[in-house]
Amino acid sequence: MEKINIILVGFGHVGRAFFELLKTTYDACQFRYGLQLELRGIARQKGIMLLSSTQKVLSPSYFSEGELDNLDDWIKEITISDLLNEFNQGVLVDCTPSNLTSGEPGLSLIRLALEKGWHVATASKGALVLKPDELKDLAKEKGLVIKASAAAAAALPTIDVGQRALAGTEIMTMEGILNGTTNYILTRMAGGLDFNQALKEAQEKGIAEPDPSIDIDGWDTAAKMIIIANEVLDSRIKLSDVQVRGIRGINRDIMEKANSLNKILKLFGKCYQEKAGSPWKIEVGLALLERHHPLAMINGTSKGIVFYTDTMGWIAVSGGQSNPKGAAAALLKDIISIYRP
Ligand SMILES: NC(=O)c1ccc[n+]([C@@H]2O[C@H](COP(=O)([O-])OP(=O)(O)OC[C@H]3O[C@@H](n4cnc5c(N)ncnc54)[C@H](OP(=O)(O)O)[C@@H]3O)[C@@H](O)[C@H]2O)c1
Repeated sequence: MEKINIILVGFGHVGRAFFELLKTTYDACQFRYGLQLELRGIARQKGIMLLSSTQKVLSPSYFSEGELDNLDDWIKEITISDLLNEFNQGVLVDCTPSNLTSGEPGLSLIRLALEKGWHVATASKGALVLKPDELKDLAKEKGLVIKASAAAAAALPTIDVGQRALAGTEIMTMEGILNGTTNYILTRMAGGLDFNQALKEAQEKGIAEPDPSIDIDGWDTAAKMIIIANEVLDSRIKLSDVQVRGIRGINRDIMEKANSLNKILKLFGKCYQEKAGSPWKIEVGLALLERHHPLAMINGTSKGIVFYTDTMGWIAVSGGQSNPKGAAAALLKDIISIYRP
């Protein structure tokens, strides 16, 4: 049995879902993978909570209802750096917010973890799309890995498919519907709503954020496509390299025009080379899809990706829960695959 130290940073929607998942899968991870995943501590803005082991956390009496929200238990006197020093290696799980402008707090956190010899599994996107060179080089130099499935469409397998299932092929192009919010809005607009009605409905259902700019302006799609490309194609694309257009301002006329052409309008991320051997490019924008396109029927909050290869034809993957539980499951998958490659 291999004992793996886990430090969780961020205890919001995804962090909590990951915490619950770790508890419910603790025995299964031992039985199926020979991995004892020991949660040593949780860090958030409010402070740090030290945990002796996941096994102890599993005991029903360890945390009574609401105890995790008792601020007295979150210590301010120690830092994440202290926590990493306390245990000898493991995985830092980053569930902090995605900031696509500064990359923080994920950037400093990932740097710190790698410097101290810890692998990283991250749900946050900022650092990976702003500083891919630095982080890849640092991980390589230290012989560590940064796993980012949770940041790259989470429950939808994207990086794993490109890296493993398609090993040995040449991937020529990747296309993805990678943002549930915009796909939901476009699906509802195809059903007759106008943009504002569809956005309002998405916000009321908790699908869209109160400030939906990152999603509707295409930046979330761009970030996910960059993370997938940089892993699968070993490219070093940054957010500033990408041409991004979102769905803001589209109206019923455009939807009706698409309908009259018997096509389907989707927000699409595309990664391609102008010719073989030239640098990879990513573009995000509205695309008019033929009805037989592999992603044309991805509706609502669903996501999908299609890989066009030289020897296997096209391979499309779709589905996966678009919620914190799905993101938590992607983090767990990444941890397992670090130790059971
Ligand atoms: N929600 C989803 O379905 C989903 C799916 C895939 C990926 N993601 C990504 O997962 C990440 C987390 O999302 P979420 O919805 O769980 O966010 P959230 O609910 O806003 O939680 C963020 C957490 O990060 C903590 N935090 C913020 N700044 C910190 C810092 N400097 N040091 C330590 N902790 C800090 C916060 O601490 P406090 O609790 O003390 O405020 C909070 O616990 C984001 O990057 C998001 O893009 C989310």
